[in-house]
Parts: sequence; structure tokens; C-alpha cells
Amino acid sequence: MSRCLDAARGAIARCQMLATCSEEPGRTTRTFLSPPMRDVHGHLRAWMEACGMEVRLDAVGNLRGTIGQGPRLVIGSHLDTVRDAGAYDGVLGVVLGLALVELLEGHVPFTLEVVGCAEEEGVRFGVPFLGSRALVGTAAPLLDLADADGISVRQAIRSYGLDADQLEEARLDAAGYLEFHIEQGPVLEHLDAPLGVVDAIAGQSRLDLTFTGQANHAGTTPMPLRRDALAAAAEWMLLVEHAAHTTSGLMATVGQLHATPNIRNVINGRVVASLDVRHATDEVRRAAVDHLCEGAHAIGRRRSVAVDIARHLDQPAVAMAPALTGILAEAIAATGLTVHHLTSGAGHDAMIVAPQMPAAMLFLRSPGGISHHPDERVLVEDVAAALEVGLQFLHRWDPRHA
Ligand code: GLV
Ligand code: MN
Ligand code: MN
Repeated sequence: MSRCLDAARGAIARCQMLATCSEEPGRTTRTFLSPPMRDVHGHLRAWMEACGMEVRLDAVGNLRGTIGQGPRLVIGSHLDTVRDAGAYDGVLGVVLGLALVELLEGHVPFTLEVVGCAEEEGVRFGVPFLGSRALVGTAAPLLDLADADGISVRQAIRSYGLDADQLEEARLDAAGYLEFHIEQGPVLEHLDAPLGVVDAIAGQSRLDLTFTGQANHAGTTPMPLRRDALAAAAEWMLLVEHAAHTTSGLMATVGQLHATPNIRNVINGRVVASLDVRHATDEVRRAAVDHLCEGAHAIGRRRSVAVDIARHLDQPAVAMAPALTGILAEAIAATGLTVHHLTSGAGHDAMIVAPQMPAAMLFLRSPGGISHHPDERVLVEDVAAALEVGLQFLHRWDPRHA
């Protein structure tokens, strides 16, 4: 246990150090293949090589360290962050994979690959999972997406020194995938439990709605004659909130608003609003999205504001593999902890690889349930417990369980 506690302290220190690799001074923001990602790759590569791993960067920018021979187990998560992020979302899962290799001193009776995915959050291009989609061969349709500066995914890959035409070589052929991740919610804390097994990951939809009215003078335009795009968007946002409050298990969020011209004495003529909708049952989520789109059109008609809707993501809910999840539960029990099962409301790389290989996830308690925020934390004892469970899992894993 004391080895795991030391390793946990080291893992937390690494996460905190990697959190300083940022696009913005004083806070952690690291989007797909941005300059600070190079520093993260440099640190991880050095640590991986120091414990005998062979390291490569694949064509989409996933950092991949491999050790051992024979059937392959992958431990992965992502290295990108939201804007003004905490230090643990994603990165902890990669650092813990590396810590397990270190704890085993390289003696792995199969191939263990630790993958730091290039992108999971969807901050730069509006669509998430670029890294894990490359692992399963579904990233190619995303190459022409453009970021806010008009730079495409393909160009970003080229500027980083990689070749998007080689995307196929990023494909993963493995017998299992394991992801360690902070819970990012309050459930484990309420259970007074350090760890939980993820049974399923909720599906998610991501859309952009553009409300187009007429920008005009705030002092001279009579109220009944206004075509205020921001007021229309605001009315629709309350509909979004109401739908989520009145549908069990539904989460719906307008997280991003761009109002134009966004000036005190001008009616806004154009608003682009993001919509993020999640539910464990795909039919409920899709029905909610349709309802919210119809609602936006109805509000727009009444206010003479045009509404255009772009649907960027319809990611179904995904179950984790029962056999692998069972080994994880056994591993937790072997450390003397109670086994708790959870559904993840957050999206994870595991949900992208799960249709192609057995996947399992271990959640670590999030103090205060805080995540996607600089106050995101982990407890050192919980990280040590996760490493103990990881060792037990690796001891029990057998590719025939696949
Ligand atoms: C990823 O963090 C998500 O938004 O679920
Ligand atoms: Mn996240
Ligand atoms: Mn994450």
C-alpha cells in the first residue's frame, strides 16, 4: 500500500505539473494539438521511456507508450482540456497507466499500451473524441472541420508535424481497454466511497442554433418592431432548462453563446447558442433534442427571428463490457473496498472504443463533485486505492475474457 501511496503522490504531482502546460497564462487550457500539447507530450514521453516503454505519436496526435508482448491491453484517457480546466480530467487516467507500468517495474505478462488521446472535449472544433475516433477508424470525416480561426483538423495535424493521410495507422487492435477517470460528479462522495465501476456512459447530442434577427438602435426601435436575436435565444434557453427539469434523467445545457454585435446600446441581430443534451436512454435524448429544436423554431416564428440548426453530434449511450467490468469489481473487492456501480453522465474515450473492443472504466471520487473547473481535485488516498485496484486488475486480466 505504501508503494501505491508514494506512486499516487507522484501521479498527482505530475498532473499538477502538466496542468501548467497551457495556452493561457495562469489557467489550464489545452486544446487539440495546441503548442502546450508538445510540452505535455515531451514530459510523458520522457517518463514512459524511462520505464522502458516504446513511445510514438500517431497520425492524429495520440501519444502511445507500449511495453511487453502478446495480447494487448490499453489504458487510456485524454490529454486535452476544457477552457480554465482542472488538473485531473483525462490526464489522471494517462498518468495512472504510466504509474502502473512503473509499479510493475516493466514486468507485464502481455502488451500494455498507455494512450494519451489527443482530443476528447470538443473545445477547438466543436466535435469531441478526435483522438479516440482515430483509434477506431472513424475520425476521417472530421478532418475538414474548422476551428474559430478557420484552421481545419487536417491543417492542425500538418502544423504539428503529423500526416492526416496516415490516419489508418492510428487504429488500435487490442483485446481490452481500461480507463481511469475522476467521476466529475457527487455520487461517490455521497456514498463515502473512493472508487466506482462504470456500467454505462450516457449518450450525448451537441448542436449549434443560430438565431438571426435584426441588429438595430436600442433607443429608437419600438419594442413591438424588434427582431431581437438574444431575447429569442433567452426564451429558448428557459425552454431548454424547463425540459431538463421535467424529464427524469435529462441533462440539457446551453454552455456557449456568441451574440453579435454584443454592444450595450444595440439590439443583438445574431446569436449562436450551443446545446448539449445527455441521457442514458437514446430515445429520450433524441426526443428531447427534437422537442427543443421545434421549440426554437416556434419561438423564432413568433418573434420573426430565423433559426438555423446544425447537429454536430449524436453519440449513443454505451454499455461497458460486463466481463471486464466484472474483473474490475473483483479487483475492487480484493482491496477490501465496497463495489459501487455508476452510470457516467460525462462522455469518455471509453465510449468510442467500446463498440470495437471490451472496455471498462474506474471512477475516482471527485471532492465536492467539482470538475471542468480549476477547483477540480482528487484525494491522494483515492488515487492510491485506484492504483491498488489497477494492480489487482492487471493481475486478473486475461485476454480470453474479451
Ligand atoms: C467531457 O468531458 C464531456 O463533456 O462529457
Ligand atoms: Mn472533460
Ligand atoms: Mn475527461
